[in-house]
Amino acid sequence: MTTDTIFDITRTSSSRINNVDLDNPGFGREFADHMLEAEYRDGRWQQPEIKPYGSIEITPALSVLHYAQSVFEGTKAYYVDGETVNLFRVEKNFERMVRSCERMCIPKVEREVFLEGIKELIKLDHKWVPQKDGNSLYIRPFACAFDPIISARVAEQYRFYIITSPVGSYYDRPVKLTTTQQYVRAVKGGVGAAKTAGNYAASLYPAQQAKKQGFDQVLWLDAEEHKYVEEVGTMNIFFVIDGVLVTPSLRGTILPGVTRDSIIQLAKHWDMPVEERRISIEEVMQAGEDGKLEEVFGAGTAAVVAPVEEVHHDGQSVTFDIEGRGPVGQKFYDAITDIQYGQAEDPFDWITSVKVNK
Ligand SMILES: Cc1ncc(COP(=O)(O)O)c(C=O)c1O
Repeated sequence: MTTDTIFDITRTSSSRINNVDLDNPGFGREFADHMLEAEYRDGRWQQPEIKPYGSIEITPALSVLHYAQSVFEGTKAYYVDGETVNLFRVEKNFERMVRSCERMCIPKVEREVFLEGIKELIKLDHKWVPQKDGNSLYIRPFACAFDPIISARVAEQYRFYIITSPVGSYYDRPVKLTTTQQYVRAVKGGVGAAKTAGNYAASLYPAQQAKKQGFDQVLWLDAEEHKYVEEVGTMNIFFVIDGVLVTPSLRGTILPGVTRDSIIQLAKHWDMPVEERRISIEEVMQAGEDGKLEEVFGAGTAAVVAPVEEVHHDGQSVTFDIEGRGPVGQKFYDAITDIQYGQAEDPFDWITSVKVNK
């Protein structure tokens, strides 16, 4: 099947690319010329359209605005050379989107539309993929309820979109984390493992409180005992304790990150001891006190590896005197970004190269 039969494509007649500074695009503020839109109605996804990026008309009664039946993904495209743009493990993003859709009662987005849609957008808008080191084109697929009805029920109509946004490299200033005994991100049986809007809305208030106390983000603990470490805002968390890489196991309350999975695979490939298990905040603080906590870092698409300079819990802090990533975090950062930008071998077959016309 050619892409013309999968999508109706309408090209923009006036590109906005000259209005954007691709060297300094910020994050999520500028959008490339085209977007994909698919409608779900009459019990099936209709033929998707690729068309100029622009506003959409909605009614104030739109169901997603009221009941948050909505899922999304986040991945990036990396400039390699004038003819090649790399995508990183987009298949994993598709699989996670399908799981998120299932949990949120959203009809499963079609594989071909998701994967070929991303590739087609990259081909059309390849000039929007920034060339500056560390910059990339962020890709945001999302699906949401589109019934023009105020009623708390599973919707009958949906929309699926893919929009893309040139983004700068994430500032790698080390972050300060604090736990909270008052708030939780996700409960067992809830929607913590789904990439759904409400998870982010619910975490805003605790994150704002943490910021008021001088921290960057909350280090979430489990909801039952407030004892075990889960994750951070939009990142999974890793600890290096006495030479062993430790990250909380996936138990349905944590988002299964693509970066997390990549780090675990790399560690195994390098024969670096790695443990996915429950890790209590007491163990972390004790390791800090004993001088065995060598590094802490967050892992996610935005920053890849974000160094942590402080973990605060219950009036105590473990701090690291660092200016950037530690050696272990840096090693993962370099390995992953080198693969993403086509500067290293890809032993795990993580890359999809999109050939673009100059
Ligand atoms: C809550 C949460 N945890 C972890 C991650 C990291 O996931 P990934 O590595 O797939 O970006 C993200 C980002 O998507 C997130 O929103």
